[in-house]
Amino acid sequence: MDLLFATRNRDKSRELRELLGRDFEVIDLNSFPEIGTPEEIGKTFEENASLKAIAASRDRPAFAKRPSGSDPRRGKHLLVIADDSGLEVDALGGAPGIYSARYAGESANDAENVDKLLRELSTKHIAPDQRSARFRCVIALAQNGKLLGTFEGVAEGNIADAPRGTGGFGYDPVFQPDGFEQTFAEMGPELKNKISHRAKAIAGLRDALSNIDN
Ligand code: IMP
Repeated sequence: MDLLFATRNRDKSRELRELLGRDFEVIDLNSFPEIGTPEEIGKTFEENASLKAIAASRDRPAFAKRPSGSDPRRGKHLLVIADDSGLEVDALGGAPGIYSARYAGESANDAENVDKLLRELSTKHIAPDQRSARFRCVIALAQNGKLLGTFEGVAEGNIADAPRGTGGFGYDPVFQPDGFEQTFAEMGPELKNKISHRAKAIAGLRDALSNIDN
């Protein structure tokens, strides 16, 4: 099954491909430079995931140019997914939350965001046993400008006192999931993909896709 993933984030695309496996051909917006991305004006992960999926699924002319676009029916019925995700830290009232990607500023990189998070926790004197947090991921599924469903996954854990590990992306080096000694960045993709917020959201998406005749 073909899926257009409404993102330009290559880390998210890589994980999604690993999670969905060979039954799905996932293309992302890096193949469609002409498709714009909407401003993330929603107040929740669900709203932002939905608006990204709906907007990209409306952009039919662009799909005709895709590699398998020789069959116009495929472009017309292309299923589109979008992921909105982030980290919620209890001691910071749920921040960075939906602002996770731009916590340290509009064009902040992962290291700057992690740095700001650790500085906030340290400035507020949040003790190591008070650093509970969760990753939340919502995946929205849309077709022809209509939302077909949203699927949520959550991974509970704690914020480490310093970054550890080189795998993954984003806040992975400081997120230690409950029941594990390693951070997401230390564990490697196989284990992360078994227990992550994204893996749980994808499980719901898979169920929904198995009931769609496309
Ligand atoms: P979005 O593109 O607005 O959904 O931004 C999501 C942001 O949340 C990313 O840029 C990361 O900073 C963070 N994030 C989401 N999922 C993960 C993950 O699996 N590991 C680490 N950070 C993540």
